[in-house]
Amino acid sequence: MPAPILRQLDVLRDTTLPWRLAGETIGVVPTMGALHDGHLSLVEAAKAACDRVIVTIFVNPMQFNNPEDLENYPRTEHDDARKLERFNIDALYVPDGPQMYPDGFSSKVTVTGLTDVLCGAHRPGHFDGVATVVAKLFLQTSASDAFFGEKDFQQLQIVRRMARDLDIPTIVHGCPTIREIDGLAMSSRNLLLSDRARVTAPRLHEEMETMTAAILDGAPFAPLQEAAVKRLELAGFTKVEYLEMRANDDLSLLDTPTRPARLLAAAWLAGVRLIDNIAVEA
Ligand code: PAJ
Repeated sequence: MPAPILRQLDVLRDTTLPWRLAGETIGVVPTMGALHDGHLSLVEAAKAACDRVIVTIFVNPMQFNNPEDLENYPRTEHDDARKLERFNIDALYVPDGPQMYPDGFSSKVTVTGLTDVLCGAHRPGHFDGVATVVAKLFLQTSASDAFFGEKDFQQLQIVRRMARDLDIPTIVHGCPTIREIDGLAMSSRNLLLSDRARVTAPRLHEEMETMTAAILDGAPFAPLQEAAVKRLELAGFTKVEYLEMRANDDLSLLDTPTRPARLLAAAWLAGVRLIDNIAVEA
């Protein structure tokens, strides 16, 4: 069934009020649209866990580093609404810019520490934009639960920390990364890859799998990293921004997996920035 599309905050609040009064749980899936099976897996998880489900679509200007990237971000609301039909969600919330950031808007949420590394080091202000919009979406929707992908592992940990620090009573659930058959992590940005780049793109995940197996075999980290970066560059990646192993909880740098750890990478291919991460565990 098509979900009602809500564009105004007051209508959203009127919609959730009876749910809240009835003590129902409200699961929220925040997205920027251009929905793929990765997003839809979050919707499925929300449906399985919560009485009510709201999907949000908002291409958040505050988290983009350059206007061109914001401009080029795919916008496919009609298709997105159609893809959601089979899930029977309770509302699709699609606020416009002024609804989210009215004139005179002057607050922001900054999570320190976790945002200094990985993508945070390469995209100044990005995670302030994410933390601010996610805090607003949690409060606007009265989410009891929210569903995020491990695909954006740093984002997931930042959102968890933000909710905990600010006493926002939304339980943050992390869901596994959904991949294409060749291993490429699904992403709205994959639409921007040329046919040729699309063939090369899965190499990133392949190299990460190979590295993880070697790390678990006890091989030292630095030479593995160096060799993997070289092979990626030879394959056509123009820049590997980072390829690092970090602790799950505080994202501190590791060279042996002495605590639960992940291997995380960001790399440019034919003008598109790809990110991925996998658990370093047997
Ligand atoms: P977006 O990139 O649209 O992603 C929305 C959610 O889908 C995020 O939680 C992301 O981790 C998850 N996701 C994306 N690809 C996935 C995949 N292949 N497998 C599983 N989950 C996947 O992330 C954002 O939007 C924004 O930063 C947002 C949180 C909405 C704030 O603006």
